[in-house]
Amino acid sequence: MSNTFIHTKKFELYITQAQIKQRIEAIAEEINRQYAEKQPIILVVLKGAFRFAADLIEKLNFPLEIEFVRLASYEGTESSGKILAQDLGLSNLSHRTVIVVEDIIDTGNTYQYIEAKLQTLQVASSMMITLLFKPNKYQFEKKPEFIGFEIPDDFVVGYGLDYDGLGRELNDIYTLKEE
Ligand code: IMP
Ligand code: MG
Repeated sequence: MSNTFIHTKKFELYITQAQIKQRIEAIAEEINRQYAEKQPIILVVLKGAFRFAADLIEKLNFPLEIEFVRLASYEGTESSGKILAQDLGLSNLSHRTVIVVEDIIDTGNTYQYIEAKLQTLQVASSMMITLLFKPNKYQFEKKPEFIGFEIPDDFVVGYGLDYDGLGRELNDIYTLKEE
């Protein structure tokens, strides 16, 4: 399937599931090397990162713990600038090595919010893995430690990412095709 429609908007195939899985293998290999001894907690940012996190964890070969946090900043196809947070009851992160797993970093506001939150929780250290990164929209200096794919400014859906609630079930990633 090379095109799909969501809420009347047309999207075209952009990154296939096979490409995603291949990239995940490479990232997992590096994390296995760097973090196996650190007993990290994987902090999954819901909802978008649930599929990426599951496929990544499948390839990790050391014992780990998993926590979830739900954050949202998008309205339609644009970043709203404000972070909508739910359930930040994460006090068990203190003095731990935290690996944050995100679906996509756009302006970086959500990432910034998470970093600040982790600091107040006094984690031992934290690092960010994001499947997708939009360098031209990013507004901060510090980049995430691991990036799956750098992409243009366009809006994407699939493999966990949504457009107003729909499209998360798509196995590949699709990009918005402007009329
Ligand atoms: P930021 O705070 O602007 O970096 O936005 C990050 C959040 O916005 C991500 O965690 C996604 O939930 C959402 N988002 C950003 N870009 C896209 C996109 O192209 N498609 C779907 N969701 C997106
Ligand atoms: Mg997200």
